Amino acid sequence: MPIILTTPNSTLLPSYISALERSWTRDGDHDPEGASAQLARIAQNAEEFLASLTDLEGAGPPVVLNDGSTVPRLSRARYWISDGEFAGDLSLRWQKGTSDLPAYCLGHLGYAVLPWKRGRNYAAQAILQLAPLAQSHGLSWIDIAMGIDNLASRRSAEKAGAVLLRQFNAGPEADNQEALLFRLDV
Ligand SMILES: CC(C)(COP(=O)(O)OP(=O)(O)OC[C@H]1O[C@@H](n2cnc3c(N)ncnc32)[C@H](O)[C@@H]1OP(=O)(O)O)[C@@H](O)C(=O)NCCC(=O)NCCS
Repeated sequence: MPIILTTPNSTLLPSYISALERSWTRDGDHDPEGASAQLARIAQNAEEFLASLTDLEGAGPPVVLNDGSTVPRLSRARYWISDGEFAGDLSLRWQKGTSDLPAYCLGHLGYAVLPWKRGRNYAAQAILQLAPLAQSHGLSWIDIAMGIDNLASRRSAEKAGAVLLRQFNAGPEADNQEALLFRLDV
């Protein structure tokens, strides 16, 4: 089924809420906020919640790393995958004015498809649709990092046309796991 990539919006919000109610979050176990906290924020002010997902200027507070050090917040844009309802999420981050990333950020892009909507190549389609949007944010390429065992993510990146740059150690923030870095020219 074809999908559409959109900015987070109130039309898709009810199905996004349904996903949270099934305890889904885009970062799974690593989600610092969690589904219930997001549901509470939406209940309090849905418009404010939607607006908070994007920070084009990187104006939010500094990010605290696991070792307690702080680093500047990057610019961030969120996109939702729609197949008529919310189906998944893409998060793009970058340094304003350059396609290069700081050492503490392994890739420009994170993505997730709802477990019950997988197996339809939604991620590959979404990455393809993201390319012109990334260009509009001033990027010449998108780096995509993933754990070496993440075959679905690897295949999705490849199907979108990204090429493997290298294998690397993802460092202490990612439990020193081996990772792959793909690059998609946009
Ligand atoms: C990665 C993810 C977004 C892909 O979702 P999706 O678009 O539904 O992907 P699909 O299930 O359609 O699979 C895409 C491709 O990977 C292949 N694939 C999926 N699981 C696989 C596995 N375990 N082994 C080998 N290939 C696999 C599929 O066969 C398909 O390739 P094909 O079309 O050539 O057959 C989804 O698995 C997910 O949300 N995972 C959790 C979050 C995550 O890991 N994000 C990536 C971090 S960068």
